[in-house]
Amino acid sequence: MSNNIHPDSSILVIFGAGGDLTWRKLIPALFNLCIDNWLPDHLAIIGVDLKEMSDDEFRTHLRDGIDRFSRRGKPEDQMWNGFAERIHYLTADFTAPESYSKLAEILSNQTKEWGLQQANYIFYQATPPRFVETIVEQLGKAKLAHDHKRNRIVLEKPFGRDLDSAHKLNEMLTKVFRESQIYRIDHYLGKETVQNILAFRFANALFEPIWDRRYIDHVQIAMAERVGVEHRGNYYDQAGALRDMVQNHLLQVLCLIAMEPPVSFVDEEIRNRKVDVLHAIRPIPQDKITQYAVRGQYDTGWIEGEHVASYRDEPGVTPNSSTETFVALKLFIDNWRWQDVPFYLRTGKRLPQRGSEVSIQFKPVPHQSFPSSAIGDWQPNRLVIHIQPDEGILLRFQAKRPGPKMRLGLVDMRFTYKEAFQAIPPEAYETLLLDVMIGDATLFMRADQVEAAWSVIMPVLEGWKAVSPEDFPNYEAGTWGPEAAQVLIASDGRSWLKLTAGDEDGD
Ligand code: BG6
Repeated sequence: MSNNIHPDSSILVIFGAGGDLTWRKLIPALFNLCIDNWLPDHLAIIGVDLKEMSDDEFRTHLRDGIDRFSRRGKPEDQMWNGFAERIHYLTADFTAPESYSKLAEILSNQTKEWGLQQANYIFYQATPPRFVETIVEQLGKAKLAHDHKRNRIVLEKPFGRDLDSAHKLNEMLTKVFRESQIYRIDHYLGKETVQNILAFRFANALFEPIWDRRYIDHVQIAMAERVGVEHRGNYYDQAGALRDMVQNHLLQVLCLIAMEPPVSFVDEEIRNRKVDVLHAIRPIPQDKITQYAVRGQYDTGWIEGEHVASYRDEPGVTPNSSTETFVALKLFIDNWRWQDVPFYLRTGKRLPQRGSEVSIQFKPVPHQSFPSSAIGDWQPNRLVIHIQPDEGILLRFQAKRPGPKMRLGLVDMRFTYKEAFQAIPPEAYETLLLDVMIGDATLFMRADQVEAAWSVIMPVLEGWKAVSPEDFPNYEAGTWGPEAAQVLIASDGRSWLKLTAGDEDGD
């Protein structure tokens, strides 16, 4: 986040470098950082994986990933070649101690070759979760975790599959690395628009005085996807939407919306204010889960004019799976600011629209002075933060319609990143990788945050585990989830707000 600092010389070691994450996200992000001149003068990237590959073969594979996935499209050869020479590949078995002594030697030789005594050694865990423990232990044994300032480990989710396993994972990690060396990624926190929530709330005096229960009726956070589980059926069927999206992305965004103003932008301060929110979330009563949480699973249906398979027919998914692909959740935050203001969270796959947005729904005016003939389609004010697409912010309010009579109409005031800054925002991984190199942990999840987030959803996870869903699949692909989700919010006299960015199928 603190982009005015240039990182120190670094060697980034990617475990699981032959996988999709490296190909689609990490290398395109690093290459963009290179183009924008953010990388340290001395940077080496070492991909580690089981597959036999030469440096050149690895580079060719990565170049293909850049051609396909980089936000800037295909690069010029000269630009790529300058970057590619920093990339190397090591064929290694993650479980074998020799792999780590070899790695230690490579790291030390590279550092000496640069004429340096020391450099940041960053270990990026891009393997399936079953390798995490071995890799961490072996790094410890090879003395690659000893420099508490310069040795860092980056972990991708999932961080366990419930509170207990997350706690054990944290204990295992902290036997080898100090908490300050651990960077747990939630890629939503790297998105420009998510970071902008902090700027919007705390760099302006205008909104904070009305950011509480006196003026806000409720908050909705939606993360809707049109895609199904794609090629990740094996993983997803073990996870489900509650673990995959709510425990991390939705709760992190909720924290940014609900947190108290930080005293400073020091990483620990922001993380403390966020974890306060998680601790203040009212526990969901085990015997009333249905009043707070709804799950759904998609059936066949139509997405953008194409007939798509049901979840149970996706590759890697068990034919009678009870895994949820949709969640709607109601939460309350028990503190002075938010007492009795509901936060409605909603996420799902195969919904009619792709969009992540936060809607702050303000209360109606205390007294309506306009005659009913003037009012028309009157609605209370709403502020919408578009995380994606159409990144920006929208404020909806009433205006006088032109004409001789007093008649009101709804209007939108919009800020879009594209128009205001005339720039394509960096990808989340660009920000996050740069922060790891700099050593700024603000946008990463601390152990206690991860565990507090698991605590919030544990009653639902346990309640759902105890009772199999009998109505699955319960929503057609291309619709807004099961009927019960409408009931959840309608029983409070409210309704789900239509997303204001992107296009809905059938519109
Ligand atoms: C990932 C989930 O963390 O986030 C995926 O595992 C989901 O299931 C993805 O599709 C959504 O991220 P984004 O950035 O596309 O909104």
